[in-house]
Amino acid sequence: MKIFLDTANTKELKKAADIGILDGCTTNPTLIMKEGKDYKKTLKEICSIVSGPVSAETVSLNAEGMVKEGREFAKIAKNIVVKVTMTPEGMKACRLLTKSGIRVNTTLVFSANQALLAAKAGSYLVSPFIGRLDDIGEKGTELIKEIRQIYDNYSFKSQILAASIRSPEHVKEVAMLGADIATMPFKVYEQLFNHK
Ligand code: G3P
Repeated sequence: MKIFLDTANTKELKKAADIGILDGCTTNPTLIMKEGKDYKKTLKEICSIVSGPVSAETVSLNAEGMVKEGREFAKIAKNIVVKVTMTPEGMKACRLLTKSGIRVNTTLVFSANQALLAAKAGSYLVSPFIGRLDDIGEKGTELIKEIRQIYDNYSFKSQILAASIRSPEHVKEVAMLGADIATMPFKVYEQLFNHK
């Protein structure tokens, strides 16, 4: 399983890169805003630290806007993956961006059927939000199990990126269930090194 950091903090990314266990990064406008930095400049800096995929999130609500933003993000660095939301417009944008050679991370996935649609639209990464499902009284990791089965049944190439991870227990569970990637806050990453 690949390990990504869910952060826009370049110090955290440098620490993980220095350890040598860092396969990619996911960011979103909120995380970048928290750092108080310029969005595109931060993405460029992140891409110089992380050699694996770096997700950059679009904020438009329609496909045209998402494609436009995505094309701009893709110019920043080769390892940029454009994040679009799981909506009909998002899937239209996913198809168009993928067709033009830009890799897409479909985010805010909360059901197995949404993951099926995201794979059919050509997503490179698909991000189920497990912590947010736990928040509403469901078992988020169950969703990873369902998506794994569906993708294996039909040999979909999309990678399952378990997101909204809150604890080392989440990381262990998604690894046991066959997620391709887990993205986590730096705090959780550090906790993975500890034991009782
Ligand atoms: O990877 C998605 C993440 O940024 C959201 O996490 O903990 O706010 O649900 P959380």
